[in-house]
Amino acid sequence: MQLQNLDISTPAFVYDLDSINARVNLLREVADQRSLRILYSIKSASFSTLLESIANRLQGLATSSLFESRHARKVLGDRGEVHLSTVVVLPEQIEELSMYCNAININSLEQWQRHGSMLKDRIECGLRINPMTDYVNDSRFDPCRKNSKLGVPLDQIIRLLKNDSRSLAGLNGLQFHNNCESREFSQLVETCRLLLDSCGNLIRRMEWINIGGGYLFNEHCDMQWLTDAVILLEEAGVERVYFEPGKAIVGDTGYLVASVVDIFRSGDRDIAILDCSVNHVPEVFEFQYRPEIYPECNDGEYIYRLAGMTCLSGDLFGDYRFEHPLELGDRIIFRDMGAYMFVKASMFNGFNIPPVYLHSKSMGLELINEQGYEDYRRRLT
Ligand SMILES: Cc1ncc(COP(=O)(O)O)c(C=O)c1O
Repeated sequence: MQLQNLDISTPAFVYDLDSINARVNLLREVADQRSLRILYSIKSASFSTLLESIANRLQGLATSSLFESRHARKVLGDRGEVHLSTVVVLPEQIEELSMYCNAININSLEQWQRHGSMLKDRIECGLRINPMTDYVNDSRFDPCRKNSKLGVPLDQIIRLLKNDSRSLAGLNGLQFHNNCESREFSQLVETCRLLLDSCGNLIRRMEWINIGGGYLFNEHCDMQWLTDAVILLEEAGVERVYFEPGKAIVGDTGYLVASVVDIFRSGDRDIAILDCSVNHVPEVFEFQYRPEIYPECNDGEYIYRLAGMTCLSGDLFGDYRFEHPLELGDRIIFRDMGAYMFVKASMFNGFNIPPVYLHSKSMGLELINEQGYEDYRRRLT
């Protein structure tokens, strides 16, 4: 996709549907051979049109809340599965959740004890296990950080299996999600081995295992690791293995296209103000992440600090080098903006959220989300 030449006004998010489809196809190749079921985790990007475009090649959608589950069911109709993983099941939502979801992954033994009998009558139940692995360096993203709130720690499960495993009776499945942005699918195989070694008896009793998301794969990855993980679980008698990636499908297939709207000098830096802000791509600010851009030039002699247009002094993207001096109207294209950005974006300062387009070679550009003053006002009145 030639983003520089696309006929759109800025700022705008653009998703490359051909690349999204290529990612889904990588998984389909494994799923067509084995008992892998693909769910797409909609928390990363949940536009109806995007979901509708890929839904027929997925088993369904993975969700985190009542609203996401309702949205997922509305998109799918009666064609696919909705699997909810939530830190807490609120008892007053169980009735409604069971209208939308096929399965729910429960985060603690305490919730399983409190709500298990009510849930079991309505929906398939899984328990989230925390494998206590050590794969993620930054604890803010590590589901297995010390004293994690995510899932039942594996050591507790092992103790329970030794002493009294009756409390786990009635579960249909188990879930783990123990990684973040990992490119090492081998860690998935390691995790499956670890769980089979430490609580294989429990796994063998399950109808399904949900292996979460947290892996970044693309056309250059060896997908054999995923196949191997599925085979390990199949050999233990598991009938269905659910994989629910988010960022791998939409992360680097989404872009934010912006324009330079002011240029001035401050101290020893040239500042280029863009017609967007870090509030449109909040992970850039939250995690102080420096996005890759086009047309950056590593040995370019012109350095600019790219800044957003809100009043926040820290609304900055970073310092970038360019081959030529920037001019008003120049386009800056931020890469890897497809996941966890728009879903967290806000209209801080009253700036509109950029419209979203889906692009494919065969269909061209399609506007799939547009907000405006009425959306801003509705949240405030
Ligand atoms: C339970 C669960 N499944 C799937 C995902 C999707 O992860 P990713 O977008 O990293 O693939 C997450 C992300 O937080 C998650 O918590």
